[in-house]
Amino acid sequence: MPRTSTPHIKPDGAPIAETILLPGDPLRARYIAETFLEDAVQFNSVRNMLGYTGTFNGRELSVMGTGMGIPSMALYSWELIHEFGCRKLVRIGSCGGLTPELGLNDIVLAQAASTDSNYLAQFDLPGTWAPTGSFRLLDHVYRGAAERGITAHAGNVVSSDTFYHAQDDTTQRWARMGVLAVEMETVGLYANAAAAGVEALAMFTVSDNLVTHEEMSPEQRQTGFAQMIELAATVTEL
Ligand code: HPA
Repeated sequence: MPRTSTPHIKPDGAPIAETILLPGDPLRARYIAETFLEDAVQFNSVRNMLGYTGTFNGRELSVMGTGMGIPSMALYSWELIHEFGCRKLVRIGSCGGLTPELGLNDIVLAQAASTDSNYLAQFDLPGTWAPTGSFRLLDHVYRGAAERGITAHAGNVVSSDTFYHAQDDTTQRWARMGVLAVEMETVGLYANAAAAGVEALAMFTVSDNLVTHEEMSPEQRQTGFAQMIELAATVTEL
């Protein structure tokens, strides 16, 4: 039986769907609810981490901000999975491209998440674990991108604890191992989902490329983001 409230999520009777989109920015959650959902009701405002539930093409869908960084993503996703019964969690965010092939507005689907964080240590595994996304969700979204003529790349990403790095070659070292992009949350989501036996996917628009030094304008960010939301919301079909 789902709990009615946690330290960080207090729905006060409002529903939370099994499928949830997770942007980092809570104002993006509000934008998605206002622009893409029908009959949206707000289910959270604790710490302004806004969450909403409505329908998309007739199917129930929630959306909630996660904040930035692995600890923030990890605590919200943990509560959504364990206390509120979420079963399909889709992070929608932006990433920094680490290879020149990643153009601005391309979409990156995280097959797996590497990390410089210590988050995985708590699982106490006898080796180095590679948390992966749900292949079912990834495959669905990848095909959806192809149908829409959107360029999508699937591969490894690195979830970093640092946006500003003390060493100059930090991101290049990940790139040399074939890692496509850097962001700051996915490993927490993938680890929690895998440990709980639920499905997760992280997808990003390339907001900046650390090799070519291209950067999106605010308008480009908004357009690219809207395109990604429509694609992400198709997981409600599964
Ligand atoms: N680093 C970490 N996260 C990011 C970046 C970056 O360069 N760009 C977008 N998200």
